Amino acid sequence: MKPEMAWELTLEAGPLLVFGGPCSNLQGLRAVRAEAEARGIPPQRVICTGDLVAYCGDPAPCVAEIRDWGCYLIGGNMERQLAENALDCGCGFGADSACDRLSGAWFAHVDAQIGGADRQWMAGLPDLLQIDWMGRRVLVLHGAMSAVNRFIWSTDPDDLFENELAQVPGPRPDIVLAGHSGLPFQRVIGGSLWLNAGATGLPPNDGAPALRYAVIDSDGKAEIHALPYDFEAAAQAMERAGLVQGYQTCLRDGIWPSEDILPLGLRRG
Ligand SMILES: [Fe+2]
Repeated sequence: MKPEMAWELTLEAGPLLVFGGPCSNLQGLRAVRAEAEARGIPPQRVICTGDLVAYCGDPAPCVAEIRDWGCYLIGGNMERQLAENALDCGCGFGADSACDRLSGAWFAHVDAQIGGADRQWMAGLPDLLQIDWMGRRVLVLHGAMSAVNRFIWSTDPDDLFENELAQVPGPRPDIVLAGHSGLPFQRVIGGSLWLNAGATGLPPNDGAPALRYAVIDSDGKAEIHALPYDFEAAAQAMERAGLVQGYQTCLRDGIWPSEDILPLGLRRG
C-alpha cells in the first residue's frame, strides 16, 4: 500500500492546526474543530492525516462532520480500504495479534455504516499533500512514504526517517506531517521536522483520556497539545453500537487494550 495520489497546494500565512486519526470518535472530532475555531485557525489551515473512521462508535457522523468543516484530509489506510470495499482495516497489524483480532468487530461496524457515496468521496482523497506554506515545503502523509500503513515511532533510528525522506518526490521537505501510529512526537532529522500529532480518536496510551493535536506557529515551531473532551459520551456511543471488545474502556482510562503493535520501549508494562 504505497502512497500514490498527491495534491500540490499553497496555504495562506498563519499557524497550522494538525490532527490525526479521528477514528469514528465524533466527540473528539467536534472538540478539535472547536479548538481550531477558538484559536481562529480557519479550515484552510487545518490538516487531518487520515483514518477518519475506525475504532469508535460514529463513523458516518464523523464523515458528515469533517465534510461540513471543510478542512484538509488525506486518505489513510482506512479510507483506502473502504474506497476499495476491502474486507479488513489494512492497519498492518500482525496476523494473530490482539489488534488484528480486535479489529474484526470495529471494522464490521464501520463497514456497515459507511455507504457508497462516502466511499466514493474517500476514493477521491489524496494519499499525500505537498504544500508550500510560507516558503516551507510541507509534506503530509499517513504512515510513511514506503507504505501508507507503516508504523513509525519516536524510538525509530534516524536512518529509518532518512530513508523515508529520501522517497519523497521532489525536494526534501522542511516539515513532514504524519499519522497512523497514534502516539504523538516530533523529531528533527537532518534539518527536517517530522511531526506526528497523535490522534483525536484514542488517547495516547498514557493513562488519561485526553486526545492530542498539534499547532505549528508561523515560525515553523510545533507544539503538541492535550485535547480534553466528552470521553464519557464517546464511550457510551461505542457501547450502544455493541463495540465492547476493549477500546471503549480505553476512552475512559487512557490505556490501549493491546500493546502488541508498540515497540518494547513504548509499552507501559
Ligand atoms: Fe492508519
